[in-house]
Amino acid sequence: MKIKIAPSILSADFGRLNDEIKTIEPYSDLLHVDVMDGHFVPNITIGPAVVKSIKTKLPLDCHLMITEPVKFAPEFAKYCQMISFHAELFENDMAGLKDAILKIKKEKVKVGLALNHDKKLDLILPVLELCDYILIMSVYAGFGGQKFIPEVLEKIKELRTKHNFKKDIEIDGGINLETAKLAVITGANVLVSGNYIFNSKDRKKAVQSLKSLE
Ligand code: DX5
Ligand code: ZN
Repeated sequence: MKIKIAPSILSADFGRLNDEIKTIEPYSDLLHVDVMDGHFVPNITIGPAVVKSIKTKLPLDCHLMITEPVKFAPEFAKYCQMISFHAELFENDMAGLKDAILKIKKEKVKVGLALNHDKKLDLILPVLELCDYILIMSVYAGFGGQKFIPEVLEKIKELRTKHNFKKDIEIDGGINLETAKLAVITGANVLVSGNYIFNSKDRKKAVQSLKSLE
């Protein structure tokens, strides 16, 4: 499967975001945008106004870590091509989860479900066919620069083998060359990476090293 690299701007300098994006744009496939509201996760990042100001040719992959994805998705959808939100928001409400996916799909974006590192795959299995992609978190949602949690790989393996999921699987959190290898072998094909790319001396080389795992 084709490997796509999605640098996460969470590790970029927000004061000069568009210049930062230029440093990775030519080698990347997507731009990963982490949206946090201080409720769903203990951190606040950016809202639609900042997403609107991003200038790039790369498709924007908005990862909503917010408690009200359905309410805010239409605003983000004006400026991005992909929206994921967390399935655990609807932990005991499968009808609500299905409804949320369908509502966001109306905004003409690809819709993905994200699962925090400690959440079970069961939460998304009944709606798997409705999803354009799945995002598996390999750290605690909320902050960049954390250590990869290898136990989450089991979920990716299960998605690919037991459930025959053929669409994109993103892995998000603690991705560097070493952990990316494990993720790709297991079946992930979209590598989200913040710290490894933006804090490396040679960003081009960092992105290309991940891409070389293809
Ligand atoms: C964390 C975010 C990630 C984060 C990844 O909640 O969803 O996208 O930016 O950053 P690194 O690659 O530094 O773990
Ligand atoms: Zn993310």
